[in-house]
Amino acid sequence: MALPPTLAWHGDVQGTLHLLDQTRLPREVAVLEIRSVAGLIDAIRRLAVRGAPAIGVAAAYGMVLGVRAARPADPREFASAVASVGEALIAARPTAVNLAWAVRRVQVRAAREPALTALLHEAIAIHDEDRELCRRIGAAGAPLLREGMRVLTHCNAGRLATAGDGTALAVLFAAWRAGRRFTVLADETRPLLQGARLTALELHAEGIPVAVIPDAAAAGLIARGEVDLVITGADRIAANGDVANKVGTYGLALAARAHGVPFYVAAPASTFDLSLSGGPQIPIEERSPDEVLHCQGVPIAAPGVGARNPAFDVTPASLVTGLITDRGLIRPISEAAIKEALA
Ligand code: MRU
Repeated sequence: MALPPTLAWHGDVQGTLHLLDQTRLPREVAVLEIRSVAGLIDAIRRLAVRGAPAIGVAAAYGMVLGVRAARPADPREFASAVASVGEALIAARPTAVNLAWAVRRVQVRAAREPALTALLHEAIAIHDEDRELCRRIGAAGAPLLREGMRVLTHCNAGRLATAGDGTALAVLFAAWRAGRRFTVLADETRPLLQGARLTALELHAEGIPVAVIPDAAAAGLIARGEVDLVITGADRIAANGDVANKVGTYGLALAARAHGVPFYVAAPASTFDLSLSGGPQIPIEERSPDEVLHCQGVPIAAPGVGARNPAFDVTPASLVTGLITDRGLIRPISEAAIKEALA
């Protein structure tokens, strides 16, 4: 199935942001036309657009939508709209730092050039760069994939999570294009099923053999020697290399370590947050219990039962074999090695 782009800006500063509605995949291919920052914040919260780099790019365009609606009459009003629209976008989802990173970048440009066209140009630059970062991550990680490997991934860190080929999946796509043959286990990724709905779709479309597994099956399959390599994306990486990613990642990393399976994380420089010394400082989004208590809209627990729904967890750097970045492979991981790679 050929999908429309994950996100695309149409037109000039009066244009609209088109988002492939990921809540409806793979059953339905629908594109949302976003005209307001409120509409974008809603789309980000509902995960119509999702994945750390993709929400960063979307938020950059959101700055154009929000500031233009404020119709600032003078530079002071322009600066105030740039600040308030940025804060509203950053608050949409707290864990992926790419959102704040992209907003701050547009804000810096706005301070230098207070004009809507400058905001749009910065958003387009962030969008274009993300494609190239994905390509570099793919190139840095592809040599890790050996012929015949059985790879396990979690959530979706692919084309639907970025403006390019993805992060973790960019590595798989690059190795596949280079002629290496391997198979993939995709964790279904409860409760919103990004693995079953999105990762499996992307890999299958590329001809890469993929099998969806219940999240709960991963540790047992690793223990039985059925996994040679685990690779995931990241939503935020602290200065010491601790990684926040989709809930369930920590458990995978523990199982991988217990059974001597390498565990890699792929992410661009924009996912690192050097202002945080360690993972415990990363804010973890807690989503509605309804997502856990329903599956695809159908209630699965007795009425009145409660639920917890942390959307992410933190994997300590000590469990991560290496970080695959657009600046190359960081292995072994240390604060100094991360600083040097990102300098
Ligand atoms: O809640 P989501 O679907 O936005 O979570 C996405 C993930 O956890 C991804 O692994 C991460 O953002 C990396 S995407 C390249």
